[in-house]
Amino acid sequence: MAQPFYVTTPIYYVNDRPHIGHCYTSLVGDCIARFMRLAGRDVFFLTGTDEHADRVVTTGAEHGCTPIQWADRNAAAFQEAFRFFGFSNDDFVRTTQRRHIEKVEAYIKDLLAKGDVFLGDYEGWYDVSQDEYVTETTARENDFKSPVTGKPLVKKTEKNYFFNLPKYEKRLLEYIEKNPGFIRPEARKNEILGRIREGLQRVPVSRAVNKDDASSQWGILMPGDPSHRIYVWIDALFNYLSVVDTPERVKYWPAQLHVMAKDIVWFHAVIWPCLLMALGKPLPECVYAHSYWIREGRKMSKSLGNFLDLETIKAYCQPAPAGFGLDAFRWFLLTQGPLGSTDADFVHSKFVDIYNADLANGIGNAASRVSNMIEKYFEGKCPDARGVTSHASHDWPSLATAAVERAKKCMAEYDVAGALAEGIALSRRVDGYIHATEPFKLAKDPAKLGEVGTILYHCAEALRISAVLLSPAMPDKMRDVIGRFGGNPDASLDEATRWGVLKPGTPITKGEGLFPRWDTKNPAPAVVAS
Ligand code: MSP
Repeated sequence: MAQPFYVTTPIYYVNDRPHIGHCYTSLVGDCIARFMRLAGRDVFFLTGTDEHADRVVTTGAEHGCTPIQWADRNAAAFQEAFRFFGFSNDDFVRTTQRRHIEKVEAYIKDLLAKGDVFLGDYEGWYDVSQDEYVTETTARENDFKSPVTGKPLVKKTEKNYFFNLPKYEKRLLEYIEKNPGFIRPEARKNEILGRIREGLQRVPVSRAVNKDDASSQWGILMPGDPSHRIYVWIDALFNYLSVVDTPERVKYWPAQLHVMAKDIVWFHAVIWPCLLMALGKPLPECVYAHSYWIREGRKMSKSLGNFLDLETIKAYCQPAPAGFGLDAFRWFLLTQGPLGSTDADFVHSKFVDIYNADLANGIGNAASRVSNMIEKYFEGKCPDARGVTSHASHDWPSLATAAVERAKKCMAEYDVAGALAEGIALSRRVDGYIHATEPFKLAKDPAKLGEVGTILYHCAEALRISAVLLSPAMPDKMRDVIGRFGGNPDASLDEATRWGVLKPGTPITKGEGLFPRWDTKNPAPAVVAS
């Protein structure tokens, strides 16, 4: 039986439209999910939307919508965006779904019964003019006055439900110590460890319901106490479990991987595992917190209005010559993205450089050179490799096998860019080999056709394998390349990367240019008015 592999993304707030940040995290999840499926794992890939935030009520009202109408509209926008990207998620969870709400109620009931969630006093700085609590830091920074109206803040106490986080501090530290890969990358782990060692505080898990405030009524009510509703973050974290907490899907828990950005790593690496310990559930294997995309050197923000939005993304993804195509966009994000602990800059000129280097002049060019030569010298039929070449230094079967092994190792560490680099390096080697052996010159001498055949067989076979390694990033284009070089795009990783799958005599098709070169003098792709 295939081993389960469960990968999740954050569930995104529906008060916002999807932008590059959300799409990036889900793309990383998609690429890993696709690789693991290829490697024979039984994958479950989950993404979705987080819908019980207060802002859904206020923003919805500003647009003349009820909260659920607003959530429906924006959840649909996320689903549409993810379909556009070709994500292979197995489910899309919305926290307003009955299946989720019922589970959350059951988890909270369990925690109440165990005494890990309890009623206590909440004391904080209250901004009466705005009807909301502000944090201790905000209060201090504003000299204990309302940051909006300047009116004095008042200290207010109210009843709230809390989760007993400190109770699990020791066990959490032990878990992190025993599982060095639990929080990645390393820089995030060290930050989290530092913060845990400062001591954990109880966590509010509810907000009081106020009959005059519609926002306070939006959410899941506290079981047995309708004067409170469950805090949106607690509700949201439970999605990872609620969706697979059914007889058919229970095999997927615990998750192998939660992917997100560094903004929310505390919730995932500290609060979430402690909630799970309290519920008596096994803990996820890895919480991976990547860094941010910034744009042309500046942080993306609402006030700067410089988010790389879906319209711009779609402009880049138009097929050539208007744009670069979806797979090229996926390639840039996956190989140049902020998967490590530093932010990544989306710079148009860099996009063009990477596109031309890796795709147009890289695998695209190699594929077209090799198929052209096979057509020209062997009537489009794959030659055999019986001829002797003077380039014995290229032990192609070993080179290809080693590249596949390294790619697998990278993916096991979630080093997506590292794994993809193996695929592209193999295609570059093909180019280098053609350069070194010059089959186009040898072909002029009919006595050397056997040698030309051997060279081209090696090139075609290496390209086919490189396309398999690149397919989780560029599923459509690589399916095409695998097909052109006589491979089965649906074969498993082990089967597809075995040297010698390509049989002499197989028709090799030239097809359309895969990645036409982009002239650096061209302007960035234009957003098409919808
Ligand atoms: N709803 C919560 C998550 C709950 S998970 C149980 C939330 N939502 S969010 O809509 O704000 O999404 C935050 C996530 O979006 C980040 O963790 C990251 O995955 C992604 N990104 C948002 N902006 C980003 C960048 N600029 N760069 C990269 N990813 C970013 O927080």
